[in-house]
Amino acid sequence: MSFIVAVDGPSGTGKGTITKLVAEKFNFQYIDTGAMYRCVTLKLLNEKIDANDTEKIEKILKEIKIDLKGTSVFLDGKDVSKKIREEDVNNNVSQISHIPIVRTMMVELQRRMSEGKNVILDGRDIGTNVFPNAEVKIFLDASVEERAQRRYKQNQENGIDITLDEIKKNIEFRDNNDKNSKVGTFKMAEDAIYIDTTNLSINQVKNKVFKIIKKKMKLVEKIENAYKMTKDNAWKRFRHSFTKGFLGLLYRIVYRPKIVGVENFPKDEGFIICSKHINYLDAAGIILLNKPKIRFIAKADLYRFWPLSYLGHLFDIIPIKRDSGDINSVKMCLKALKNKEILGIFPEGTRKGLEKNMKVKNGAVFLAEKAKVKIVPVGIQGSFKPFTKITFNYGKPIDVHSLKTDDPDWIDKASEKIMDDIIMLTKEKV
Ligand code: DC
Repeated sequence: MSFIVAVDGPSGTGKGTITKLVAEKFNFQYIDTGAMYRCVTLKLLNEKIDANDTEKIEKILKEIKIDLKGTSVFLDGKDVSKKIREEDVNNNVSQISHIPIVRTMMVELQRRMSEGKNVILDGRDIGTNVFPNAEVKIFLDASVEERAQRRYKQNQENGIDITLDEIKKNIEFRDNNDKNSKVGTFKMAEDAIYIDTTNLSINQVKNKVFKIIKKKMKLVEKIENAYKMTKDNAWKRFRHSFTKGFLGLLYRIVYRPKIVGVENFPKDEGFIICSKHINYLDAAGIILLNKPKIRFIAKADLYRFWPLSYLGHLFDIIPIKRDSGDINSVKMCLKALKNKEILGIFPEGTRKGLEKNMKVKNGAVFLAEKAKVKIVPVGIQGSFKPFTKITFNYGKPIDVHSLKTDDPDWIDKASEKIMDDIIMLTKEKV
């Protein structure tokens, strides 16, 4: 598992301090991306390479060796932790960090350094560009005055003599340069948590950030656990039949379900039921009102809330992470089909997906083709208003092989054809 924390924000907001504290507390690897741009700047300065000489810069970038060990920074094997914080680097790093090839290569390196690990990265574009899917995104900010004061104090402690006014101007200049650059444009990710540190102590910011990370780690753990199906034993089977019976009875009292076409279910083989999705209760109806066990595939987020997580585990719902090729989920589905189990999938992807003009998802056809199983379409007639009639109209099983053509898009086309059948079954008079 890899857990990524992205901390972005302008300089002087305490990013470095907070990031180090988090790395220590949670045993995460710390990647100071600013230090990486500083290393490139130092190397270009040492080799006296002009910022416009793209060819030479590219050559340097191919050779450069940057290592981050804890809080120490090594450039080509030499500890440059102090050197990269000196004035000449300070004065040039902003410009160098905005050279497109520097940006591309550093972003690539940052991704490579983080692969498969728990990491915390601080920078300017981590949450927007380097890791747009980071588990946690934090944006630290503070007023220019406060940031200048902090830097001034730090400099005084280190015996560096720069006036407060000069520092303020320098910060404003760098902010502008960072914000207005075409590459690595510095802005807050929409899903980042904004923390204004102007009137907060390091301790207060630290506590806030720790809390955010702990909460997200718990959530991620819950979702990861969803992939570990609970053991099939007598106690689980008892709870399963009891809950299925009880909820099924409740379903029959609240709705007057009519079920048509179950005789179409293939016998003694796994298959996939593809259903219209108008309400969460359509999946419930398919699971509760049919004798054989039907396992639905649902978004992994379902496992965030304990009652749903309980039912998810009880009914062996297969989680799937949205918008990412969820290999674990695909493996679980294929294994289930091989075991002659029945899966339920909504090709619309989400409730009323067709009405929302969403493209029909092709996962069901993909799985059916891989596992060599049939697809049973089902139309759902009714509005799910309590005490009204709901009809589940199951159609004839479809052999996806009969829909296979030489067209590279055949899976998409077959998925649309199955969706058409579902719509027809939804409208058919029964
Ligand atoms: O955080 P810092 O002051 O060490 O960063 C040095 C410079 O590098 C700063 O001008 C912004 C730039 N930078 C960047 O453009 N993107 C990052 N991810 C990190 C730093």
